[in-house]
Amino acid sequence: MSREKIIKLILKEYSNQEELSKEDQDLLGEAVKASRNAYSPYSDFSVGAALRLDTGQVVRGNNRENASYPVSICAEHNAVAYAGANYPESVITSIAICARKGEDFTVDPVSPCGKCRQVLAEEEDRSGRKIRIILYGESRIYVIDGIDNLLPLHFSSSVLRR
Ligand code: THU
Repeated sequence: MSREKIIKLILKEYSNQEELSKEDQDLLGEAVKASRNAYSPYSDFSVGAALRLDTGQVVRGNNRENASYPVSICAEHNAVAYAGANYPESVITSIAICARKGEDFTVDPVSPCGKCRQVLAEEEDRSGRKIRIILYGESRIYVIDGIDNLLPLHFSSSVLRR
């Protein structure tokens, strides 16, 4: 007999930026800055990501597109790779993400792609700490505690162990 199981995703919704803590507002500001330097001539979709590390350091990333489309890299992945290369001892505690089509920010909170979710999951697994995820949209902002709320049942290194 099969049993139906329901998996809950928990997120907090805010109707504007001023309702966020000063730390989260600042991080969003950094994500906006990052989006301004995105290289997105093919999609005109400019994504900015900003990571806060346990040291307080902020790392920015944006999407870098390529004429060979699949070679492009997402903003979140770019930021995580930069943090790993330059601050290998640090732990990512939060990430803020925003995106603009042309000059206009998305109305709905931007949703990281599956690959970027998996990248964030690896960071949580490796550090043992949940990442606070702040997703910006003009109409509302989501704050999510941990990747399990975005990528339930994610693939992780535990299955690779004997
Ligand atoms: N993109 C990101 O940077 N992050 C995501 O999570 C989703 C998509 C980028 C990839 C591509 O440059 C553009 O947005 C349109 O897909």
